[in-house]
Amino acid sequence: MYSQAKVIAGGLAHIPVVIAVFYFILTTFNKRALKFVEESKAKKPEVKVVEPKKVDVSKAEVQKTEATKVVKKKHADVPVNIYRPKTPYEGTVIDNYSLLEEGAIGRVNHITFDLKDSNPFLNYVEGQSIGIMPAGEDANGKPHKLRLYSIASTRHGDDFNGNTVSLCVRQLQYEKDGETINGICSTYLCDIKPGDKVKITGPVGKEMLLPDEEDANIVMLATGTGIAPMRAYLRRMFEATEKEKNKWNFRGKAWLFMGAPKSANLLYEEDLQRYLSENPNNFKYTKAISREQQNAKGGRMYIQDRVLESANELFNMIEDEKTHIYLCGLKGMEPGIDEAMTKAAEEKGLNWAELRPQLKKAGRWHVETY
Ligand code: FAD
Ligand code: A2P
Repeated sequence: MYSQAKVIAGGLAHIPVVIAVFYFILTTFNKRALKFVEESKAKKPEVKVVEPKKVDVSKAEVQKTEATKVVKKKHADVPVNIYRPKTPYEGTVIDNYSLLEEGAIGRVNHITFDLKDSNPFLNYVEGQSIGIMPAGEDANGKPHKLRLYSIASTRHGDDFNGNTVSLCVRQLQYEKDGETINGICSTYLCDIKPGDKVKITGPVGKEMLLPDEEDANIVMLATGTGIAPMRAYLRRMFEATEKEKNKWNFRGKAWLFMGAPKSANLLYEEDLQRYLSENPNNFKYTKAISREQQNAKGGRMYIQDRVLESANELFNMIEDEKTHIYLCGLKGMEPGIDEAMTKAAEEKGLNWAELRPQLKKAGRWHVETY
């Protein structure tokens, strides 16, 4: 028979054993838990801060050509919206000069901005546009909305260093109730001075991109500042230093139809004449100077009249699937161009109403009018 004291003494004697068992379980569990935490730390992906790099344009060019050969994903590599209106890039004006000769109508300027301090770098390709946010406020005390402008430089910029962008801007001016009204953004741009800071957004647009093929034919129909993207294309094709940089050996035919009110309003004329004399087999330049020349009906000469005059040659080119057509400038020219293309197509036994959507679908008909 156990006495009560013996039972208590026996129970007390088990306590160290129970503590030892608990201690063993706890330490084993803690070690495993610690090991698990360590392992999880090791497995956790590191969060890397990717510093936006300035693109080496010459390398990007080569990579792009290779990439587009492999993946036919449409222009996936073209930069868009690097800067948006809430956080625009403040670019410094490098240059702002008139493109017009004495006796011209209105004001058209070539304006260049420095992009080198942009981070991420504001890179772009030929045929895109940027947004400009004019300084000041609208009638409701809100900041002015951005306006789009076609980029007039190649991705390498006018100085070929790859860190500027240029625009070709006409000051909007019209009469209302006997008063001259100046467009807000176009006046702001024509008036800015080297050293001024300008809010820039973009780049945007994939409609006016050049094809990759070096043997493509490029037909360009431009009125006024609609020359902007065409100037970038032509520099890419024919400007010696630019060609060294871009390694794009254009071998096709380029044909520019240019509409301007007066000879003094022709834009980038000196460069275009130089390209013409240096590349007589690859470049054709047809002008429609509306207030100095007359069309067959005795009216103002517009580019659509020139299109009609060249119907046969133009449609021979269009029938070649390597030919792309680019239209840029006044919105008002679209119906006139359509009408001329309809007549020109008829002369070749073709139906423009059927042909145009086919060209569009094939990515060969590019329109940017405003
Ligand atoms: P605003 O102050 O905005 O005034 C324009 C407004 O004035 C119009 O909306 C209209 O309400 C009114 N208005 C205009 N004309 C008249 C009139 N005759 N009578 C009565 N009211 C009138 N422009 C260039 O110079 N170069 C370019 O390369 C260029 N590229 C462009 C590319 C794209 C994709 C687009 C969409 C537009 C482009 N523009 C270009 C046009 C540019 O974006 C502006 O619309 C233009 O500069 C006028 O802006 P603004 O602020 O000076 O005029
Ligand atoms: P015009 O103004 O003589 O009627 P800019 O932008 O420098 O004024 O140049 C635009 C050119 O486009 C001008 O020669 C202008 O002629 C011309 N133009 C105006 N309206 C049309 C139209 N509907 N179709 C084609 N060209 C046009």
